[in-house]
Amino acid sequence: MVPATKITRANQSVGSQLIRRAEEIRLAVNAGIDPTRRGPLGQFTTPPQVAGFMSSIFTCAYKHVRLLDPGAGTGALTSAFVAGQISRKKRPRTIMVTAYEVDAHMATGLMDTLQACEKACTEIGVSFAYDLRKTDYIRDRADRNKALWSIDSDQYDAVIMNPPYHKINSGSLERKLLRDMGIEVSNLYAAFMLLAARQLVHGGEFVSITPRSFCNGPYFRRFRREFFELIAVDRIHVYESRSETFRADDVLQENIIIHGTRDCLHESEVTISKTVAGGGFEERAVCFDQIVRQDDPEQVIHVIADDRGDVVSERMLALRGTLDELGFTASTGRVVDFRAREHLREEASDDTVPLIFPAHMKEGRVVWPNGQTRKPNAIVANSFTDDLLVDSGFYVLIKRFSAKEERRRIVAALYDPRAISTCRVGFDNKTNYIHTSGNGLPKDEAVGLTIYLNSSLVDEYFRLFSGHTQVNAADLKRLPYPTRKQLLTLARNCKSLSDQQLVDQAVDSLI
Ligand SMILES: C[S@@+](CC[C@H](N)C(=O)[O-])C[C@H]1O[C@@H](n2cnc3c(N)ncnc32)[C@H](O)[C@@H]1O
Repeated sequence: MVPATKITRANQSVGSQLIRRAEEIRLAVNAGIDPTRRGPLGQFTTPPQVAGFMSSIFTCAYKHVRLLDPGAGTGALTSAFVAGQISRKKRPRTIMVTAYEVDAHMATGLMDTLQACEKACTEIGVSFAYDLRKTDYIRDRADRNKALWSIDSDQYDAVIMNPPYHKINSGSLERKLLRDMGIEVSNLYAAFMLLAARQLVHGGEFVSITPRSFCNGPYFRRFRREFFELIAVDRIHVYESRSETFRADDVLQENIIIHGTRDCLHESEVTISKTVAGGGFEERAVCFDQIVRQDDPEQVIHVIADDRGDVVSERMLALRGTLDELGFTASTGRVVDFRAREHLREEASDDTVPLIFPAHMKEGRVVWPNGQTRKPNAIVANSFTDDLLVDSGFYVLIKRFSAKEERRRIVAALYDPRAISTCRVGFDNKTNYIHTSGNGLPKDEAVGLTIYLNSSLVDEYFRLFSGHTQVNAADLKRLPYPTRKQLLTLARNCKSLSDQQLVDQAVDSLI
């Protein structure tokens, strides 16, 4: 009789061969991708190290496993899953794969990979079957869902996916089909995640790699709610460097891998790991409550991947104020330049008022006019633009998009009406502004708020829940804030609105 360790080693070698073969196929198919289809279909395939890691985080020891891989590309994830399963000591008796791929070029590679999976399984006595569906996953789901009286037999024990990332246009057929299935999402990847999560059996496992953008923001609020109702997430992995995951493809998305189980209770602790720049690996256990606060109606996901994240989260939660309690609110600037083009002027004249762009924000203050920007400095005040303007006063402006070279993602500046003589002013919609029911703030509170928002603490906290450079008004509304008294202390004690050291010292001494 062959000893068990030998069998496992032999299985591992069959697994490794399978991975090598799948990688050859992936690289060959990648080389022939039609560049015009790559973006629209989100054709960025998963490299073997990432796929291997994803397959390794499945926890169940399956006897019979039905796997779903929607948007399977050349099958990088399916092959990693199969290799992982057959290399285990307790390997499954049967593996059945359903893989969707809409693109014919990708599907040829997928067929080759599935055949390689079949060969590997046969070699070591695991029964393997596959169903390659060369069709659109969303349309197929919609068709199968049409027959409301029939039971959906398309169910799975495991899902693995790196779905396409692409905006779903509001008037598109996809949007309509998804709406008919009760799904309101603005990106394909979120639609794939929800549809696949619904197809899991009770206790089924879910593993995905996607952009981090679903973790926060109003566009994904409904998605987060439904997803967390279906899937109890118990593991999160992030990459410290934006370009680490899909280095060869120049993808500059921040990616997140999650593992969870269908219909289970949320674990009290979640494992969070990260690949640090250069390839190192760190792992820790974090209370689920710290990741998704129980009292948070937005269900925002905070990825606290290291000790520093812990400290930042604790310190921020020590702040007791909210924007609401302060009587302030955050909105996006109302002037959309291309819609108001005919009313914009390069320079001010008798019939204009200042128009403030991010280019006017310098070292914590709004400096207007700016002779160096190609942006218009002024907007005509007339009946068309009246609704776009606000009365002059103290406001805190926050850039909606930070430039790559900017150290911080949250960049705030004080709009001081004493420095700019005008009755009305327009804020461009690439800025957010904090106001009191549409009017300015009391001066010292505005100064304190600018200092607070420019602190490293706020910036680090923001990065815990946001994987992108965009700052939404909703993100600003949900930050913890100092109390009014603390804002006044900041305004009194800190002599700069943007000197990082002074600002950080002042904010640190509050907590
Ligand atoms: C981000 S790639 C990932 C491929 C593969 N999962 C991997 O990890 O290497 C997404 C794949 O989904 C396919 N795709 C895009 N839209 C699809 C749809 N509506 N239905 C099925 N597949 C789709 C693309 O052609 C592409 O191959």
